[in-house]
Amino acid sequence: MRVSRANETDIQALVALNNSYAAQGLTLLRTEEFAYGHLADYRVIRDADGGVVACAALDEYSPTIVELVSLAVTQDAQGLGYGKALIGALEKLAKSRGYEQLFAVSFSDELFVSCGFEHAELSKYPEKIARYTKLDKTEIEVGQKHCFMKKVG
Ligand SMILES: CC(C)(COP(=O)(O)OP(=O)(O)OC[C@H]1O[C@@H](n2cnc3c(N)ncnc32)[C@H](O)[C@@H]1OP(=O)(O)O)[C@@H](O)C(=O)NCCC(=O)NCCS
Repeated sequence: MRVSRANETDIQALVALNNSYAAQGLTLLRTEEFAYGHLADYRVIRDADGGVVACAALDEYSPTIVELVSLAVTQDAQGLGYGKALIGALEKLAKSRGYEQLFAVSFSDELFVSCGFEHAELSKYPEKIARYTKLDKTEIEVGQKHCFMKKVG
């Protein structure tokens, strides 16, 4: 398995993969504008034909904190370690960019805990709550998601 960067030609696939889980509340809807603007912040895993089968991205929260967003693996490719590999790759990327903390908001408690993340209070990230409210008002009320944090710096 190889983790690589995303290209402009991947934008539609990145958005489609992420958004395929949005209706279930597992991911937040993302636009092509978001993917285009964050292209350098994505890491992907490809199939033999070069198609994106897994993706995740960094989204700056503050000069010291960055969020891991848009973590998604196609259903056929789940359980193969791709999710873990992407989390590891984004930890490295976050560290190389000088961030101190990587955080994520997710239902996937086991996955993040097994990657060395600790539970954190979402209330420590007030701007995140504001962003969620802007993107999807139901997200915070309905989604009993947990917040995870890992020191990377
Ligand atoms: C959550 C998700 C990203 C995990 O990616 P993945 O590539 O399937 O996960 P991995 O193969 O790296 O497995 C990591 C751990 O997750 C668990 N896991 C993986 N697939 C699982 C499944 N289908 N059911 C239950 N647990 C599973 C395993 O416990 C595994 O731990 P292990 O390495 O100790 O065995 C992926 O299932 C997904 O895209 N889900 C839908 C979208 C989503 O929930 N995104 C998360 C937003 S933060």
